[in-house]
Amino acid sequence: MTATARIERIHARQVLDSRGHPTVEVEVHCQGGAFGRAIVPSGASTGKHEARELRDGEAEHFGGKGVLRAVSHVNTVLAPALLGRDVSAQRAIDRTLCELDGTPDKSRLGANAILGISLACAHAAADAQGVPLWRYLADDRQPLLPLPMVNLISGGLHAGGNLDFQDFLLLPIGARSYSEALEMTVRVYRALAATLARHGFEGVLVGDEGGFGPKLQHNEQAVQLAVEAIEKAGLRPGHDAALALDVASTHFYRNGSYHLHSTVGVSLTAKELADTLLHWVTKYPILSIEDGMAEDDWEGWVKLTSVLGKKVQLIGDDLFVTNPERVKRGIAEGVANGVLIKLNQIGTLTETLDVIHLAQQAGYRPVISARSGETEDATIADLAVATGAGQIKIGSVARSERLAKYNQLLRIEEELGKEAFAAWRPVGS
Ligand code: PGA
Ligand code: ZN
Repeated sequence: MTATARIERIHARQVLDSRGHPTVEVEVHCQGGAFGRAIVPSGASTGKHEARELRDGEAEHFGGKGVLRAVSHVNTVLAPALLGRDVSAQRAIDRTLCELDGTPDKSRLGANAILGISLACAHAAADAQGVPLWRYLADDRQPLLPLPMVNLISGGLHAGGNLDFQDFLLLPIGARSYSEALEMTVRVYRALAATLARHGFEGVLVGDEGGFGPKLQHNEQAVQLAVEAIEKAGLRPGHDAALALDVASTHFYRNGSYHLHSTVGVSLTAKELADTLLHWVTKYPILSIEDGMAEDDWEGWVKLTSVLGKKVQLIGDDLFVTNPERVKRGIAEGVANGVLIKLNQIGTLTETLDVIHLAQQAGYRPVISARSGETEDATIADLAVATGAGQIKIGSVARSERLAKYNQLLRIEEELGKEAFAAWRPVGS
């Protein structure tokens, strides 16, 4: 038994994320010297039902995006309530944080303030026990390296609206280990740069998550170029490597229709969009589709799931926002079969772990995800391993805020061994 480590000091500051926007960093110091630090990420294509990050809104200070109020809530409201507490009592700490806020969406003190403390406490608790975070969080679960779902081409709000769909991603399904999956991905990414250049597109500039952001004629062209890149990399599409989409359709859904205006200039009903996606799934090696319908289009989701739910992984991101009530509704209505997990959508580590558990119990696949605004903080790599979630979505294999996580997974692989890897499981198996 390790002795209880009591929280001695908590300090927050404002730092910058990968878009140069301010975000919250929190440090937790314990008696005896244990220490933890965490930095909170931030989304751009956020769901309406997410917990609220607090921004100062003072135009003259970072264009209104400052987080000094959230920082001050950590330092003056939340920290004093936690001093002297056992840092490893995560559930109790997170409950206190939620109670002090008192709102359902953490809008009073800010989900960014609350999550910063919650995660920094976990890091400090792991340090107090002298174990890496993934081992501390794993508890009695079997730790597993996740299969990465990696951004190749970016569109939507992450690349200036060049395409309607947001992410065209690689699933290196033939990989036998995490490091092999990563190496295969880099091969395809490099091949895609050359493929784009050959077709006369910009093959160097990247979007917010490191994916290429070419101005293509239509969404389907991105899929075709990705398949071509897989072949150019010497891999077999559908065998060694497949594709995933994040349609992020909430962001082009208005008045009951899906407006594909950046590219083909048409509006589709939910049924038409579902049929288009079904057509793509039959034509291309697409195994996973995220946010194929908008966040509140539950009817559309029912249609999409009936059309595709037995064939491919259907992930709810804006739909579920890592919120237990929304995930429970999805399970009850048989909507989707996967849940994107983003810590800052719900705002505490405990609630996130509970949602992962809820998804796993119902046979829904959890996919641990970064945000488009990230930092060097690599907590989600450890979270993915500890929960045995099986999949992780971090962005592309470029930009160091992405590589911080990919590289952390390489370190963990060295400790766990290559065989502790969650190979791709076809849907329905
Ligand atoms: P976001 O994008 O972090 O901008 O919300 C990620 C996603 O939609 O999966
Ligand atoms: Zn998404």
